[in-house]
Amino acid sequence: MSESVYTTIEDCARFLKVDLSAGGMAAFADAHSLDDRELEVIRDLFEHLRDRKEANVIEMQLKLSHLPLKAPKTFDNFDFDYLHVRGKDAAALKNLPTLSTLYSRRNLAFIGPTGVGKTHLAMAFGRACCEKGLKTAFLKGTELRDKFIHARNTGRIGTLIASLVKPSCLIIDEVGRCKFDHDCTEMFFDVIDRRYHKEGPNTMIFTSNTLTSQWGQFFEGDESLLCALDRAFDDATVFVMRGASYRGRGLESVAVEAGPKAIVQNKNVK
Ligand SMILES: Nc1ncnc2c1ncn2[C@@H]1O[C@H](COP(=O)(O)OP(=O)(O)O)[C@@H](O)[C@H]1O
Ligand SMILES: [Mg+2]
Repeated sequence: MSESVYTTIEDCARFLKVDLSAGGMAAFADAHSLDDRELEVIRDLFEHLRDRKEANVIEMQLKLSHLPLKAPKTFDNFDFDYLHVRGKDAAALKNLPTLSTLYSRRNLAFIGPTGVGKTHLAMAFGRACCEKGLKTAFLKGTELRDKFIHARNTGRIGTLIASLVKPSCLIIDEVGRCKFDHDCTEMFFDVIDRRYHKEGPNTMIFTSNTLTSQWGQFFEGDESLLCALDRAFDDATVFVMRGASYRGRGLESVAVEAGPKAIVQNKNVK
């Protein structure tokens, strides 16, 4: 029997956290005089168990992530051509599905007006991470603020911070929709700092209507505290997205001028 059957079984066993090496499997096959067909059936069983576990892990990660399970936002259902991004940014945007920023441990920000697809892209990235079996968390900025306040009031700051450091991909949607007081700012920046020092695939993804250079206004803290914010963008990829909302694409915008000689102007937004 070719070596690949044994190594396939070993790979599956590792994923299933079962202690079985290729050599161990070969010795077992010898001891039981297994023929090729019988070995293939064992390999198929291991592959089946691996696939089932993989599917369960993905399902669990999706559930825990708080990403929408119904009508999910994915890279496949994102129209990359709608954005009309040019040059280097266009290539970087189209490369998002490779998750290279996750593995190179860089943060991402999608900045732009409402409806241009910032949340969609952030969610698609998060979903792709879940599909790799990686822990992901999606929160709106206001939810994060509320969680910090609740943790402060109930003495569970450590647990909350640990839960925000753990995910490989942490998405904070709509930064700037609310202001973080001094305590919340301190907790948030503690999360950024600890994430910076942890190992493994790691990215934070932010969306906002406001340029990152102006985010200081949303956080209450002294200079040294706000340095953590710079750290989050030390080596980040920031997409500044412009253009009309995707929701209104192809719609006719009708500008009506009142008066005796009203002019109706039809303009195709797209
Ligand atoms: N380029 C796109 N391709 C496909 N759907 C898009 C695109 N841009 C936006 N959308 C859709 O338009 C709606 C608004 O996008 P969203 O990501 O919520 O915008 P933003 O977060 O920038 O305000 C969502 O339903 C989203 O799926
Ligand atoms: Mg949004």
